[in-house]
Amino acid sequence: MNIAVLGTGYVGLTAGACLAEAGHRVVCCDVDETVIAVLRRGELHFFEPGLAEVVASNVKSGKLRFTADVAEGVRASYMVFVTVGTPSREDGSADVEPVLAAVSGIARAMDGERIVVLKSTVPVGTARRVRALLQAETKYRAYVCSNPEFLREGSAVADFMRPERVVLGVEDEAAGRTLRGLYEPFLPPDGKIIMMDTTSAELLKYAANAMLASRVSLMNSIAQLCEKVGADVEKVRLGVGSDLRIGPLFLRAGIGYGGSCLPKDVEALTRTMRDQEVDALVLEAVDRVNERQKRRLLEMVVDQFGENLAGRTFAIWGLSFKPGTDDMREAPSLVTIRGLLERGARVKAHDPAAMGRAAQILDEAVEYGEGCYDVLEGADALVIHSEWQVYRDPDFAAMHAMMKQPVVFDGRNLFQPDEMENRNFEYRSIGRRHVRGRVGAERLAARAVSG
Ligand SMILES: NC(=O)c1ccc[n+]([C@@H]2O[C@H](COP(=O)([O-])OP(=O)(O)OC[C@H]3O[C@@H](n4cnc5c(N)ncnc54)[C@H](O)[C@@H]3O)[C@@H](O)[C@H]2O)c1
Repeated sequence: MNIAVLGTGYVGLTAGACLAEAGHRVVCCDVDETVIAVLRRGELHFFEPGLAEVVASNVKSGKLRFTADVAEGVRASYMVFVTVGTPSREDGSADVEPVLAAVSGIARAMDGERIVVLKSTVPVGTARRVRALLQAETKYRAYVCSNPEFLREGSAVADFMRPERVVLGVEDEAAGRTLRGLYEPFLPPDGKIIMMDTTSAELLKYAANAMLASRVSLMNSIAQLCEKVGADVEKVRLGVGSDLRIGPLFLRAGIGYGGSCLPKDVEALTRTMRDQEVDALVLEAVDRVNERQKRRLLEMVVDQFGENLAGRTFAIWGLSFKPGTDDMREAPSLVTIRGLLERGARVKAHDPAAMGRAAQILDEAVEYGEGCYDVLEGADALVIHSEWQVYRDPDFAAMHAMMKQPVVFDGRNLFQPDEMENRNFEYRSIGRRHVRGRVGAERLAARAVSG
């Protein structure tokens, strides 16, 4: 089939490349000409493992191409996917203007029947609005479907190529069959296609993200309690997650959820609930807990070193909101780094993929290191924000040698407190005991005896 994908971000480029991989002729369109120029040079404008290879091979075979001429892309295709961004507005609601603008563009370009597939995460009722808009702006028939996306940055290609489930909101049977036929070849044996009306499909996407966010915030609340009463949140997690009714995933305590989806989707669903006069108490709490948790590492630093951090140096490992991506949207590292800089600290940061993006957003006072050890020299403490593989098994002796003080604040619970104590680090993590290292513990004991 000839397919156009409008928007070549994390979702659109992945969808376009994977649909081409499945044999379709795909044109990826974007209004941002610089993005199209980058793609045409054979590069990607963001980091997503494995995507560059799928893009390159399909460009080479002629199944995938890029254009900034959206109208041309629409005219060349029968099915048009809309994958443009839907960022938060001031009041927390999702901004659907980019979607409506893209749909107006489709209407202007149409020269015959089309299936328009909304893949962007959009508030309930958007498909209906889009249908009305198309009816008003073109004389041609357009079938509007809702197809929320569940891929995860960091494993986007695998998620698209082998989806656990595909949700299709359709109002027209024939269009539904066509869309189902498009996705069937991607399904693994235990995968499923779930068909429903467009309104339910739109709401389902928000409900799924709200559920994930709720698990994270609840575990982060439990972690706070663990710290107070001397329990270990990792042990609590293992026990809780082995209950089949609960399951083990998305139960890790940490420094809060970030990225381009959970924070904005929780806010948008809260807004929709309020507009519909439905109590949004649970989601309001989920968001409040998350905002607090994003400040947790900064709180630990201030607790340890005081409010005035002038003359202190902090090493940061991990900038993106999670490993496997360069996405800095709503990354908890931003909260820590801004807080450190405001208090006069020097900040040296490392991330395997996100340093370029971080440099575009953060104060230029932040220094970046090529390798993760480069940022440790003279550091008063290391602050860990995302669990990239390269941070999981570091050379602790080298860290000792480079750092001014062996202090680690770990927002991802990468190491065992007992082992860190034996390695003589002062180590604070999330929902577990604070260890001071053998030397630190001896110092405290001596102080207790003399005092
Ligand atoms: N990123 C994710 O992991 C993810 C996962 C599931 C769903 N989603 C949802 O998918 C949507 C897209 O997310 P993303 O992260 O890929 O966004 P993104 O910001 O990475 O990319 C959006 C792209 O759309 C382009 N664009 C804007 N208006 C356009 C138009 N009229 N025509 C053509 N292109 C246009 C922009 O220039 C940009 O390149 C959002 O609604 C998001 O909530 C994202």
